[in-house]
Amino acid sequence: MAQLLAAEPSGVAGAVARAMERSAPGSGASWYGGDHADFRGGVFLREVIGVQVVIQEGAAAGPEAMAGLPPRPGGFTGRDRETADLLRALDPAGTRPAASAVLVASVSGLGGIGKTALAVETAHLARERGWFPGGILFIDLHGYDREPVTADRSLRALLHALGTPPERMPTTTDERAALYRSTLAVRARERGGVLVLADNASSADQVRPLVPGDSRHRVLVTSRDRLPQLGARLLPLDELGTEEAYELLDRALRIADPHDGRVGDDPGTSDRLASLCGHLPLALQIAAALLAADPGKPVSELVAELAEAHDRLDHLDDGARSVRAAFELSYRRLPPEQARLLRLLALAPGPEVSDEVVAALVGAGRPPVRDQHALARAHLVETGRTRGWWRLHDLVRVFGAGMAARAEGDAARARVLRHYLERARAADAHLKPHSEAAEETGPFRGRAEALAWFDAERAGL
Ligand SMILES: Nc1ncnc2c1ncn2[C@@H]1O[C@H](COP(=O)(O)OP(=O)(O)OP(=O)(O)O)[C@@H](O)[C@H]1O
Ligand SMILES: [Mg+2]
Repeated sequence: MAQLLAAEPSGVAGAVARAMERSAPGSGASWYGGDHADFRGGVFLREVIGVQVVIQEGAAAGPEAMAGLPPRPGGFTGRDRETADLLRALDPAGTRPAASAVLVASVSGLGGIGKTALAVETAHLARERGWFPGGILFIDLHGYDREPVTADRSLRALLHALGTPPERMPTTTDERAALYRSTLAVRARERGGVLVLADNASSADQVRPLVPGDSRHRVLVTSRDRLPQLGARLLPLDELGTEEAYELLDRALRIADPHDGRVGDDPGTSDRLASLCGHLPLALQIAAALLAADPGKPVSELVAELAEAHDRLDHLDDGARSVRAAFELSYRRLPPEQARLLRLLALAPGPEVSDEVVAALVGAGRPPVRDQHALARAHLVETGRTRGWWRLHDLVRVFGAGMAARAEGDAARARVLRHYLERARAADAHLKPHSEAAEETGPFRGRAEALAWFDAERAGL
């Protein structure tokens, strides 16, 4: 947003900040550094994008916070030992003296190595075993985004998901932490243990306040960093083994077409493909998507292309080189409008982008849904946690932003800015005390929709 606003420092930020302030008086939306509005620490009526909390079971949460644990990762392969280790750490029946109970387990490793996939898969396995009758809370801490989620916000989101009504939400972080612990203590007695899955933590400070006092609960963290300060069971995740990587490729192709035997038919070349992908699941999935999209292509052809890209990128270290080579290959193959969409998505403000902002980015009346799905099939874009929202892996974001020409980027930013301004004005019209000013023909049908828009787009704004 700061970059966006550089184009028009006073007008839009001021309009949006004033509108936010009116919608939630005293919300903390304020001028910040003179050139952009700061909404951190604001009070919002619904949960904000960036803190997705779900309760898997249990009925106490507000309905808007219930969205379900992310689905099991498709084609999940291998990781038997790691899954078993994690399940041991999470086992609520673990016969340990309470004093030494392992409450927190932390999976660490490179971006794209499969931390979230492993954590989500394991949470599903735990749920199947009936382990956490108190529910599963999933929270994305966005630790590696520009603005990691603060303890204050994550506690607020978790409390909200646990059923604390807005009017009873404590104002200070310490009070929130205390209420969080006591709410979980009650839940442990009444229903049983809760699993908190905290995805993308970048520091121990982000996690510490989320650790419950009761030893029936567990916290499962994913992080690109090892977080020894947490006193957690540490599970560093390495790249896949040769066999697992080979199996991932074969399985991914067979998911697209059960008769596709290209990987199995040429094991030597497929192993070479796996090594060029650094045995990194993200790169392997992209390579598999390239093959699946082109059924006539022999594996050896992809290997030759990838090897060439690899050579060019020898200034990068191994993990980065493998993913970057895979991105480049995918990118070069995209039709021009999809390539443009990827470049523009990389410039989107906020960690996730809505269909309407995608439409503004590309300068169309509607989002280019077919192109969005094509990029998702190529594993370059992921669907967001809410329907109609999209996200980019941050390595893809860096890659895409590097591909965008300056003029193209400036024009897209200006369009998004205009879009936000128009929407913010229309939403604001519904929030004035006597809102007859609001046009019924505008984008919002009433105050609730206008507020929901502010909440949903908060991160982007
Ligand atoms: N064991 C696996 N089998 C099959 N696919 C996998 C496996 N592990 C990860 N993947 C896939 O690889 C991609 C990257 O995995 P994931 O998102 O879990 O990485 P991550 O380590 O959480 O990365 P980040 O640090 O960026 O969050 C995803 O598309 C995921 O579904
Ligand atoms: Mg992840």
